[in-house]
Amino acid sequence: MSTDQNKFQAIISHCKEYGFVFQSSEIYDGLSAVYDYGQYGSELKKNIKDYWWKSMTQLHENIVGIDAAIFMHPTTWKASGHVDNFSDPMIDNKDSKKRYRVDHLIEAYAETLPEAEGNAVLAQMDELLKENDFAGLKTLIEEKKISCSVSGTSNWTDVRQFNLMFSTQLGSVTDEASEIYLRPETAQGIFVNFLNVQKTGRMKVPFGIAQIGKAFRNEIVARQFIFRMREFEQMEMQFFVRPGTQKEWYEKWKEERMQWHLSLGTDPSKYRFKDHVKLAHYADAAVDIEFDFPIGFKEVEGIHSRTDFDLKQHQEYSKKKLQYFDTEINQNYVPYVIETSIGLDRMFLLTVCNAYEEQDLSTPEKADSRVVMKFPAKLAPIKLAVFPLTKKDGLPEAAQLLVNECKQYFHCYYEEKDSIGKRYRRQDAIGTPFCVTVDHQTKEDGTVTIRYRDSMEQERVPLTEVKNIVLSKIM
Ligand code: GAP
Repeated sequence: MSTDQNKFQAIISHCKEYGFVFQSSEIYDGLSAVYDYGQYGSELKKNIKDYWWKSMTQLHENIVGIDAAIFMHPTTWKASGHVDNFSDPMIDNKDSKKRYRVDHLIEAYAETLPEAEGNAVLAQMDELLKENDFAGLKTLIEEKKISCSVSGTSNWTDVRQFNLMFSTQLGSVTDEASEIYLRPETAQGIFVNFLNVQKTGRMKVPFGIAQIGKAFRNEIVARQFIFRMREFEQMEMQFFVRPGTQKEWYEKWKEERMQWHLSLGTDPSKYRFKDHVKLAHYADAAVDIEFDFPIGFKEVEGIHSRTDFDLKQHQEYSKKKLQYFDTEINQNYVPYVIETSIGLDRMFLLTVCNAYEEQDLSTPEKADSRVVMKFPAKLAPIKLAVFPLTKKDGLPEAAQLLVNECKQYFHCYYEEKDSIGKRYRRQDAIGTPFCVTVDHQTKEDGTVTIRYRDSMEQERVPLTEVKNIVLSKIM
């Protein structure tokens, strides 16, 4: 199975070295599967968020956004099925006491096999998971002699279910009634607000509600950097449709979401759809959009046909009607829902992996190389770097004037230290698409050198044109 662990490790190191991602509370040796975004990471993340938000809300007249609280009434999670069903089959190694998610354990084993053999094991696992056949899963692990990476033994407990929700106490009294959960998905904040938004926004089915926010899952085997975290962010949209039209809308959103990914200029061969074998408790159809990460093809986004499951459940548990009167057909109904759900952190990881390139620029005369982050200009943390050629002759002042003009419109960076070549390399490493050098000629004819990150080509352009050149590439 083709993975490139070295490249993945290099990307993780690069993310730390250049202020994209840090381990949470690193000075205390970190907290497993929890990460902080640094000065460039937080900009990149915000740009991805804005790109999604704009494409979902501003560009769709029938989709609006909300921002619901992380804490919700505990009955929400009973109604949604998460209290009873949001669990994964786990197995413990009796010698090391290490706990594994069964599918992750088998997947890791399959990756060590030749492709055909690995796929056969995965197909067997999928079948057993679909049937909830826990004894069968244990037998598969034992038959294949899959061992624990810590103890090296195959001394396993039975397979058991383990709920992934974090809980905490509301108020000062510790009793069962005050136990609340940190939401494991943002979707439920949308479902419980369905009527609020529909009525106050005078929304007509079909319409959507979008939301970006934190979600929390007590992932047992949290690994692979920010791919699987315990605290992460989701960008979700629930699209409410007339019952009977869900198949059509499911196909439409599948297509539209793939187009969103491709609109960022990514090579289409790096994406694929993967239908779910085992459907979540709320879905009648589901597909993942997978990306070819250095660690293999993995899920970035899910599109789920959630039926009327959630609204009906909330109706039953809250005893409040969650229905819509469709004036076109003179009927009251509980709408069906198509959900698009993408992990913001996973999209961040995708963007970083897709952008990262190590280039050998050596010539017969001189050894040279660079690491360049080829971010789409729209997403790049810094859009324009401005360098005075020297620290004197009024060049810094002229460069600062350009920064002051442009910073109202996009993020700029000013730097006067080191050679221009070194300054270019630093900007390449954080993915700045445009660098401008102000030199002595600028004072004579009002032109500057603009250097393009990907081609490394340089040209002279009027200083007064710089802002528009950059704006035309990032809008
Ligand atoms: N509301 C549906 C839902 O939550 P999901 O497939 O469990 O569906 C949706 O999650 C997306 O959230 C995934 O495609 C993934 O991008 C992201 N995601 C889920 N768990 C994650 C985790 N532990 N760390 C980072 N991202 C995660």
